[in-house]
Amino acid sequence: MSEPILLNGKALSATIQEEIKAAVDARNATGKRPPHLAAILVGSDGASETYVGHKVKMCDKVGFKSTLIRLDESISEADLLAEVDKLNKNAEIDGFIVQLPLPKHIDVDKVTQAVDHRKDVDGFHPVNIGRMTQGLPCYLPATPAGIMQLLARNEVETSGKHCVVIGRSNIVGTPMSILLSRNNYPGNCTVTLCHSRTKDLESIVRTADILVVALGRPHFVTADMVKEGVVVVDVGITRVPDATKKRGYRLAGDVDFASVAPKSSFITPVPGGVGPMTVTCLLQNTLKAADKEIYS
Ligand code: GUN
Repeated sequence: MSEPILLNGKALSATIQEEIKAAVDARNATGKRPPHLAAILVGSDGASETYVGHKVKMCDKVGFKSTLIRLDESISEADLLAEVDKLNKNAEIDGFIVQLPLPKHIDVDKVTQAVDHRKDVDGFHPVNIGRMTQGLPCYLPATPAGIMQLLARNEVETSGKHCVVIGRSNIVGTPMSILLSRNNYPGNCTVTLCHSRTKDLESIVRTADILVVALGRPHFVTADMVKEGVVVVDVGITRVPDATKKRGYRLAGDVDFASVAPKSSFITPVPGGVGPMTVTCLLQNTLKAADKEIYS
């Protein structure tokens, strides 16, 4: 057994952020204003606060302007849709996101569809998802885009491989299954998408050459479930109470890293794997929006 290669999202993010910063400097030199990302945060969910705070901080780091719009948990759907419409019409804002999850009384599909697809840097709008499915230029959802770049920049072989994706969310599992099945690199996989109704999940997972886990169940995948040489992408980031940490919790992936890593050829750590790539890909999409690279 040889050592697995770490799919190091922290390091790759730092490299890509430098590329973004250089592109911003080049834009500024031609007199263009900095790219501008806005984020709507409804309520005060702890994890969402952390993610949005991180997105704003990273904007600063690469020279973007950012605007955070905080709305009360009790905001009506109509009022939230009105806020979305304001951002759609604001020519000073290149792209924006509505942080999920939203309170239960708000229909997330309505909100996603209300975002102008040309400013949809989350890549959640049906126009962008449809274009992604057909391999047309679009904003890719940030987490899948980050995983694709981790695979590509580490030259992970994907063609003809059996990829098993666990989890069928609109944000991660479903787009990952589409991207890895397309005739492209990374891609050309035979993909099995597993979900809560899948029968005999373990025996399917055991046949995976590439395993993408986006389930939200800490340490769900153990060594006995994977085959030797598997490529493991762990999307899980659950907060697990931990009294030894100052903040009172630690982040746990969906994969039991300690036991699975020795059987893997490549593996993402948690934290420092997929997570940092998600924010970086949002910045990439925002730069594309400012440059009108995808939509004029
Ligand atoms: N909640 C969890 N992940 C995401 C994401 O990528 N974008 C938004 N808007 N909300 C999220």
